[in-house]
Amino acid sequence: MENAAAAPAAEAPIPDFDVYPVRHTIASAGPWSSGTELRWSDGHTSRFHGLWLRDNCPCPNCVNPVTREQVFDISTVPEDVAPTAISVDEAGALLLNWPDGHESRYHPGWLRAHCYSVPATAKIPVTTWGGGFDIPTFDGRQVLDDDKALLEWLEALRSTGLTLLRKCPLELGAVEHFADRIAFLRETNFGRVFDVRSKVTPDSNAYTALELPLHTDLPTRELQPGLQFLLCRVNDATGGDSIMADGFRIAEALRIETPEHFRALTTLPMEFRNRAQTSDYRTRGPAIRLNDNGEITEIRLGNFLRGPMRVAEQDMPLLYAAYRRFMSMTREDRFRVSFRLNAGCMAAFDNRRVLHARSAFDPASGDRHLQGCYVDTDELLSRIRILRREPANGTV
Ligand code: OGA
Ligand code: ZN
Ligand code: ZN
Repeated sequence: MENAAAAPAAEAPIPDFDVYPVRHTIASAGPWSSGTELRWSDGHTSRFHGLWLRDNCPCPNCVNPVTREQVFDISTVPEDVAPTAISVDEAGALLLNWPDGHESRYHPGWLRAHCYSVPATAKIPVTTWGGGFDIPTFDGRQVLDDDKALLEWLEALRSTGLTLLRKCPLELGAVEHFADRIAFLRETNFGRVFDVRSKVTPDSNAYTALELPLHTDLPTRELQPGLQFLLCRVNDATGGDSIMADGFRIAEALRIETPEHFRALTTLPMEFRNRAQTSDYRTRGPAIRLNDNGEITEIRLGNFLRGPMRVAEQDMPLLYAAYRRFMSMTREDRFRVSFRLNAGCMAAFDNRRVLHARSAFDPASGDRHLQGCYVDTDELLSRIRILRREPANGTV
C-alpha cells in the first residue's frame, strides 16, 4: 500500500480580515532574553516580547474566528510569560508552546507586517503644494462606476488633499452618490446635503453672495469633517471663483519664518462659534494641531465662525499677532490656487487640511448653485484599505 500523501500544511489563522502576502519567510526562530527573535530570509531581524506574542495568539480560543475579535485577556497570564518551545513548522508559520500547554501559530506575513523592531516612521504620507499646483483631476462618471478609478481618486485625495472631478451628474443630490461610493456621509445641522446659494434668510455667510475667506468648514465642531465635496450645478453669476490653499504648507512656512507665531497657534486655543436660531455649536482649539512627532495634522480656521478670543491676558497680544500673520499668509499667491467651478465640476478636499474660499459674486448676474456634503476621514481610510486588499496568495 502506498503511503498517504502528507497532509497539506494547515493555514495559520489570521486575527483580522486583511491579506498578508508572504514576501519574506522565517529563516530561523529562537529565544531572546525578553521573548522570541526571528531572522527573516531578507536578513531582517524581528524581536517580539513574550507578552506581545501571547497577546496576539490567533488561535480560535484566543480570537473568535467569525468576528476575528479578541477573546483572550492578557492580564490573565504572568507578566514574564515566555514560550517553552519555539519552532517554524513545515508551512513556514511560527509555532510556540506555552507553559500552560497552550499552542500558538503565527502567519509569517502577518508577523512581518506587525514587526516593531524598526525605528518608528510616523511620517504622514502627504505631499504639500502651493501656488501653481496642478490639481489632480478625475472623471466623475468613472469614479462612480469603476472601483479602480475610485481607488485612484481616493489615494490622490489622501495624499494631495485636493482633487477635481469633471463630468459629474447634475441632478439634485448627485453629490451624495460620491459619498455613497466611500461609505456613510456625515450629516450636520446644514442637512445631509447642503445647498450653497445666495438665500433670502441665510444661516451662514456661505449662503450669501459675500466673499468667503479661506477657511475649513465646521471649525465649530470638536471633530471637523474630514472630507468635503462641493459639486457645482450652475455657476452663471459674475464672480464666485474658487480659491484653495494647502493649510499644511502655510503652517510649515510659518514654522520656519516666524516660529513664535507657529508656537502660539499650536498651543493657544482659538474660539469658534456657529450662531444660529436653533443650534449653538462652539468649540475651542488651536488653529494648528500637531501630533506627538511635531507633525502638522490639522488646521482649524474660519474667520466668520470665530468667537471672542479667550486666553490669559499676557498671551492675548501674541495670539493676535500669530493669527493676523497666518491670515495674511492665506492671501499670498505663493500658497493659493484659483479656478472656476463650472457646472458638472466637483471639488473634493481634505477639510482638516485644505482651506477653501470663494470670491464675492453678483446674484443678479446669473444663477449659482453648489451642493455639498461631508464624509469623515475614518470612512475614507477604511474604503482605501478595503479596495487595496490583495487577493489571498495562499502561501501559508
Ligand atoms: C461653503 C463654501 C464655497 C463656494 O459653503 O462653506 O465654502 O464656492 N462655499 O461657495
Ligand atoms: Zn491561543
Ligand atoms: Zn466652506
